[in-house]
Amino acid sequence: MTSRSPSTDRRDGAADVAIVGAGAAGLHVALEAAEAGGRVVVISRKPLNETASFHAQGGLAAAVAADDSPSRHAEDTFNAGRGICCPAAVEVLVAEAPAAVEALMRRGVRFDLGADGELALGLEGGHSARRIVHAGGAETGRALTSRLAALVAEHELIEVREGASALALWSDGERCHGVVTDEGPVAAAATVLATGGGAALWERTTNPRGAIGAGAVLAAAAGAELADLELCQFHPTALALPGTGFDGKLITEAVRGEGALLVGADGRRFTDELAPRDQVTAAILDRIAADGAGAVGLDLRPVPLERFPAIAALLSAAGIEPAAGPVPIAPAAHYLIGGVRTDLDGRSTLAGLLAVGEASCTGLHGANRLASNSLSECFVFGTRAAAAALGAAAADPAPPDPDPDPRFPAPTEETRHSVWTLAGPVRDPERLERLRADPYPLARLIAASALAREESRGVHRRSDRPLIDPALDLRHTVVGVGGEVRIDRWPPVGAAARV
Ligand code: SIN
Repeated sequence: MTSRSPSTDRRDGAADVAIVGAGAAGLHVALEAAEAGGRVVVISRKPLNETASFHAQGGLAAAVAADDSPSRHAEDTFNAGRGICCPAAVEVLVAEAPAAVEALMRRGVRFDLGADGELALGLEGGHSARRIVHAGGAETGRALTSRLAALVAEHELIEVREGASALALWSDGERCHGVVTDEGPVAAAATVLATGGGAALWERTTNPRGAIGAGAVLAAAAGAELADLELCQFHPTALALPGTGFDGKLITEAVRGEGALLVGADGRRFTDELAPRDQVTAAILDRIAADGAGAVGLDLRPVPLERFPAIAALLSAAGIEPAAGPVPIAPAAHYLIGGVRTDLDGRSTLAGLLAVGEASCTGLHGANRLASNSLSECFVFGTRAAAAALGAAAADPAPPDPDPDPRFPAPTEETRHSVWTLAGPVRDPERLERLRADPYPLARLIAASALAREESRGVHRRSDRPLIDPALDLRHTVVGVGGEVRIDRWPPVGAAARV
């Protein structure tokens, strides 16, 4: 990114860019904006090791192998996305992901190398080539976020407000002027939501508990549109140890890329372990129902577990001996595909407000995210969002007063239970209707969006509509500013955005 002079006409104390969230996407946007001369404030409620990015076991998908290509990566992404990927977003991701990997290496991130000294490339479900770049085996998130956080801490143009909570966006409904936190308002010419996803709204989840869709809740209250909230990806292989603290812990898909097998109660394989994730999850749920069991088995004996020290340590802590037999697993909520509707530069439909990473929805993932495309997304679209944020108009010299009594409603345990039981991996209209009465606003919008998509597609399975409806190809659910849900063909919103 080219450098710019920090704005001279901004209000005293106003930042060029305020970023809510300090996971991979937030840290990356902060560095990109600051390195281009912008003054940045990062608001981070959670310590680094509680962000979803820190726990990411998957890597970055990028077509860097000699026998791979961006067009092949695009084909796999479209195939996984089941007919509703935004083509322009896919083209951007696959074209720019290799450069994003190189840029991270220049920043000092040490990805795993093979014996030949080249990047060691992993295989995951839905990928037709080895193209997943990892760091520390299944510790990619830790390696990435630790390195980026160290760089952020050193940068003189970045101020990190750790422990501060965003309570509301500072919005007049026409434009976002910054963020209102529990430590006071932060004025900014551009505000970037990098709050991660909402998969912890589902009781059975692989995510840290803070993944409650805060970005979507803040954005909707401020007057921005949301999209595709019915599309939550359920990871096929989360530990099934009910009643223990290990229930729902992720067993990375990368182990299936190295030979782990899925087996039913009879000890036999029942599906292609490396099919796209929605297909594997559906096969596991069907097998669980047919077996009358609570789990299927993941046989890790073919896998060199010394290459996955974090998984070996997890199993050992849980008292499981993988050499003794298959490990019990069942699907759990993993990734909220929907979020704040954005264009390809992260701009939301509210002027001055952008979103990146899992908080955003460009339409890239369609109805089923291809494994490990999401970390790549954080960096590819984060770079673009940083440039767009710096291009935002200067901060308003006389914004309206911020909301004097901002609140952020936290979801209760009852909400998490309801979202899992009423909008879990298989839905029906009667249960979705019940969820519409939930006190947590995002739970209600998830239910309304899932009711609006009257078909089964990708991660969204409706028992009353078991098939894809071709009339809904390339169609997305959009939550308008008044909370109404409509089905939209996906136009880039850039033309309408007024950042
Ligand atoms: C995994 O490692 O299986 C999760 C990675 C991802 O969700 O992309």
